[in-house]
Amino acid sequence: MAEVVIVRDAEEAGVIAADAIERLVRATPDAVLGLATGSTPLTTWAALAARGLDLSRVRGFALDEYVGLPPGHPESYRAVIDREVVATLGLPPGLVHVPGDSGPIETAGDDYEKAIHAAGGIDLQVLGIGRTGHIGFNEPGSSFASLTRVKTLTEQTRRDNARFFPSLDAVPTHCITQGLGTILRARHLVLLAFGEGKADAVAGAVEGPLTSSLPGSAIQLHPRVTVIVDEAAASGL
Ligand code: GLP
Repeated sequence: MAEVVIVRDAEEAGVIAADAIERLVRATPDAVLGLATGSTPLTTWAALAARGLDLSRVRGFALDEYVGLPPGHPESYRAVIDREVVATLGLPPGLVHVPGDSGPIETAGDDYEKAIHAAGGIDLQVLGIGRTGHIGFNEPGSSFASLTRVKTLTEQTRRDNARFFPSLDAVPTHCITQGLGTILRARHLVLLAFGEGKADAVAGAVEGPLTSSLPGSAIQLHPRVTVIVDEAAASGL
């Protein structure tokens, strides 16, 4: 059963998530962090940055990336991670990886799995959750055993993410994402969610049936999960 922490707001959640990351990095200065994009983890990065910790040896693996955006596109998750995480936290840019960032897309999934394995696995994976219940970009129907691979985005997720693009048509149709199996191999999962729009996804992930229709429910298979939610996101629990 996940440990569920209900907080006042996203700022308080960020402090608690940053505490977990700080404990890890103090014990293991070259820890491997799983990095999420989206608006949810922003307060975590801000809280962590405020502590002035030495993160210069921390290694990072992003959860997911769009497929089909031109290199350097400001909304590619590579650009978002560089801007919102690497620059904010002072992570070593060469040690932060994004799926599909090296080599051909055909082998990018396997290559990413090998890189995570070679790094010794992910110590702490930060997760948001989509309104479809997706974690990373593992949309409904994703196998709990899935590894990093190319996927099609659902219409709902494309609409949800259209706010970052000039129009819905400009939102990519495909992505590459760590699989649910990849995520479950991380040693500690920290899932954050805020707002009423996430209440159903959070309830399904934390205490709904284990089902690929709600990919976030895979977290119930993990022995060490911390779920940090505000009251609105917790309202379905
Ligand atoms: C996006 C990302 C996910 C993220 C989720 C929630 O599509 N691929 O990794 O967790 O949707 O986004 P937000 O945190 O902005 O609500």
